[in-house]
Amino acid sequence: MADTASGKIEGNAILKTITIRRPDDWHLHLRDGAVLKAVLPATSTDFARAIVMPNLVPPVVTTADARAYRNRILSVLPQGHDFTPLMTLYLTEGTSPDDVEAGFRDGLVTAVKLYPAGATTNSQSGVRDIAKVYPVLERMAAIGMPLCVHGEVTDPAIDIFDREAVFIERVLEPLRRRIPELRVVMEHITTREGVEYARSAGDNLGATITTHHLIINRNAILAGGIRPHYYCLPVAKRETHRLALREAATSGDRRFFLGTDSAPHLDPLKECACGCAGIFSAPVTLSCLAHVFEEENALGRLEAFTSLNGPAFYRLPPNEKRVRLTRHDEPIAFPKSIATGDGPVTVFDPMFPIHWNVEASAG
Ligand code: NCD
Ligand code: ZN
Repeated sequence: MADTASGKIEGNAILKTITIRRPDDWHLHLRDGAVLKAVLPATSTDFARAIVMPNLVPPVVTTADARAYRNRILSVLPQGHDFTPLMTLYLTEGTSPDDVEAGFRDGLVTAVKLYPAGATTNSQSGVRDIAKVYPVLERMAAIGMPLCVHGEVTDPAIDIFDREAVFIERVLEPLRRRIPELRVVMEHITTREGVEYARSAGDNLGATITTHHLIINRNAILAGGIRPHYYCLPVAKRETHRLALREAATSGDRRFFLGTDSAPHLDPLKECACGCAGIFSAPVTLSCLAHVFEEENALGRLEAFTSLNGPAFYRLPPNEKRVRLTRHDEPIAFPKSIATGDGPVTVFDPMFPIHWNVEASAG
């Protein structure tokens, strides 16, 4: 990132600097093949670890799949990048509790991901009847393994803007009552209801928040023309929800931590009659977060959100290395898209000038 921006920074005064522990991304899509190779450095430059989503085609279902995918990621990691992919398994109605436990005990698999079938990109093999996966979830509760949840109902009768709130009521709360020891991450919460539910819970519930949901509301997608690069799932909601997310993320509350949900799709798959859901934010994420936390007078709590609360939930040590973020008086130039071997992928545009830059190796 520094390289891209360096031409602009010369002669551009540094106004402010903060140093934080290296962050982790607790929800990330790296894809595979040429896209993986092109997008991985955007994360591995600045982040030490990431929970890697398993929704490939075909999905990462077994421990053997996760091992193979992890090897593919490591094989394209740029030399000198200090990055550990934390693997997840895609929960299906056929998932074996023994395989899940073996992967967890081995240290290979960090969490299991629950996609309600049909809720989002590549979720067709997900769960239709939650009762069918109780044996896996009970085993996970017994061994302390986290379940990452895409929290939206798929009932076509429920309005898409209400699907998260209804999921909490119909699925999440009953599940947590049935298996109270299960450690659950509400992934990419987008609503005030999600914030309130996470706040009301105890230590075995966490919630990730994306960078883009702190920045955009639904107007970004729909007002003044349809803008497919702001379309993701869960879809951005109205402004009151964005404000609730900002308050939660910048509060320092240990239950809230960063999961960027950076989700690259090739441009032609977004800019078409039925465009894919997903926003590719990795290249600008930390700079955007520094901007948001500064706006909220909460730069002192940025580290809790990006680097402390997540490891605490996942029972991992926080990273020892640091990154330094610097605020420049002139805006910094970021690429509008990145090239992959399969075509271009547009980078999230926060619609404000970015003044914060990341120096990856602050020692
Ligand atoms: C994700 C993707 O593209 O894989 N899309 C998205 O809009 N966030 C899937 C997901 O996390 O829902
Ligand atoms: Zn995602």
